[in-house]
Amino acid sequence: MPGFHPVRVTLADTCTRGGSQERAARSAASAGRRGLAIEAETPPRDVDLARKSPLSRASMPPGRERDVSATYDLVRSSFGPNAAKYTHSHGHADTEALARLVAGLAPRRGDWVLDVGAGAGQTGLAFAAAVARVVALDLTREMLQETRLNAAARGIRNLAVQQGGAEALPFDAGSFDIVVCRRAAHHFAAPAQAVLEMARVLRPGGRLAIVDTMVPEDDEIDRQINAIERLRDPSHVRDRRPSEWRALVTGAGLAVADMEIGYYDAGSATDLDAWTARIGTTPENVAELRRLLQAAAPPLAETLKIELDGAEIHFALPRLTLVAVK
Ligand SMILES: C[S@@+](CC[C@H](N)C(=O)[O-])C[C@H]1O[C@@H](n2cnc3c(N)ncnc32)[C@H](O)[C@@H]1O
Repeated sequence: MPGFHPVRVTLADTCTRGGSQERAARSAASAGRRGLAIEAETPPRDVDLARKSPLSRASMPPGRERDVSATYDLVRSSFGPNAAKYTHSHGHADTEALARLVAGLAPRRGDWVLDVGAGAGQTGLAFAAAVARVVALDLTREMLQETRLNAAARGIRNLAVQQGGAEALPFDAGSFDIVVCRRAAHHFAAPAQAVLEMARVLRPGGRLAIVDTMVPEDDEIDRQINAIERLRDPSHVRDRRPSEWRALVTGAGLAVADMEIGYYDAGSATDLDAWTARIGTTPENVAELRRLLQAAAPPLAETLKIELDGAEIHFALPRLTLVAVK
């Protein structure tokens, strides 16, 4: 990528990849490698990549850089105070869904995995037992602290955390065998740039897996679901359509290997109160969400599988899982 000089941070040295001999040597030497054991980590640094990265300055249209910076602020203020809740969220910790995701990617023992928008680390931690190295990257410092606690509680030592933004990944090209991004991409301020970045840090033949909330190819339902998401969380940017994901991924030079459309939690119901409490939605917005879901016309009610049970409202969010190959 012309003009791109990766932001060098603790892990960048460890993530410069080479051929298979180098990989074998690296695996052999990896146990004591600086920066990879949880204990050896420096604290996640509060680096504003949107401002500092040469990549974002070079490739963003005027004005977009400011959007990214503002979205990063919203993300941190939504997730910072609520980080611990993502350790306990049933949907995020869903071990069966995570096991299916890992099995579907059939990782090899020597693989290096990057988890983008790692949150409390659920996805990276699910990969850690199957691979050589996991790097959990997130914008929000408190989330990475949660990831560390969760790794330590499970005795996982091959996972490192890195604070940073998906739109300017602080790693060399070709550093990872697998890049995974689960339940995070709808917060990305510049998704095309984030996908370009995720493709860049994959080695040739490496795979990208995106799991995210999606909307159907229908203007009105798209508008309604994204409005509901924004009412719940001001850091929400956009749930995308399958066609948008296909275009983003192919636009980054990757080939779509698999795309599955379904619901989170196998379609079991999300409780409105738990969903809004997890991210600290304001009471006024919870009341407005309640009103919108209760009054939903049949197409939206069917798409979200809305169930009204007295004061309780349950629904299910559509989910896309996409695997692409570099
Ligand atoms: C719902 S949580 C992620 C859940 C996690 N991936 C899992 O599987 O449990 C969304 C995370 O995305 C992070 N995030 C949002 N925008 C980001 C960006 N542009 N770059 C990196 N992380 C971002 C937030 O800080 C938050 O921790």
